[in-house]
Amino acid sequence: MTRVDLHGAPETMLATLYARALDADALGDGWARDIVARIDYDWERTGITARNAPGVTLRVRHFDTWARQFLAVHPEAVVLHLGCGLDGRYHRLDPGPGVEWFDVDYPDVAVLREQFYPPREHCHIVAASVTDPEWLTTVPADRPTLILAEGLTMYLAEADGVALLRRLVARFPSGELQFDAFNPLGIALQWTNTPVRRSGATLRWGIRGPADILDAVPGTRLLAWVPVFESEGFAGLSAGYRAMAAVMNRVPGLRTMAQFHRYAF
Ligand SMILES: C[S@@+](CC[C@H](N)C(=O)[O-])C[C@H]1O[C@@H](n2cnc3c(N)ncnc32)[C@H](O)[C@@H]1O
Repeated sequence: MTRVDLHGAPETMLATLYARALDADALGDGWARDIVARIDYDWERTGITARNAPGVTLRVRHFDTWARQFLAVHPEAVVLHLGCGLDGRYHRLDPGPGVEWFDVDYPDVAVLREQFYPPREHCHIVAASVTDPEWLTTVPADRPTLILAEGLTMYLAEADGVALLRRLVARFPSGELQFDAFNPLGIALQWTNTPVRRSGATLRWGIRGPADILDAVPGTRLLAWVPVFESEGFAGLSAGYRAMAAVMNRVPGLRTMAQFHRYAF
């Protein structure tokens, strides 16, 4: 068993890992279940249960679908999987050899990735803060590029997040940005988010909608913007969740509390 001693934003990736482990069969993610079995951690601390895990993993499915769509059109691509945590998206999607995949997260998390996932020729681990411009110099910049960040933007300061997106869009010839975001109300209500509260992490960047990105990041074009409560995945959840969404959707601010964003550049 590996003892994991993480705090702040890196610790929150254990909550999403645990959700994927509990929903492993539906997600096709035996990796998550195996990794959880090998980590010595008080999983109850995440607040994730078999009952609420599907409310977390709908986001995983959503980005698996969008990423598959991109890779189907661009079999020779670069993928930057930012703030990857211990997510085995590369293994779930199993892209062909034309794809160079970069999993980027803080060094403490990268070390765990190296321990739990076997090396693959076209899948690289980058141990760095996503906001550090240095690591980008190791990534080829001659192919369509998918920039995917699940559960990351809210942890960044707005100035850092905008600078990161600008840097990425300026560096690669073309591609897509796919990420989720909280709006300012979601940031204000962060105390209701159990893994965030218990880890001591702070959520910072609230994005109101696509205009915030289109105005701040030159060269982006909106492909899709989906409030999570209106997503296909949410419609597939239990009646309790759907009733909650119906109420949330009537309250301005709550409807767009969590959002999926997709842009071309
Ligand atoms: C909620 S977890 C999501 C992890 C993974 N994407 C998933 O869905 O399981 C947030 C992740 O973002 C990472 N993170 C936050 N800020 C970061 C930064 N500045 N640079 C690199 N990683 C960061 C954390 O270490 C953590 O792994």
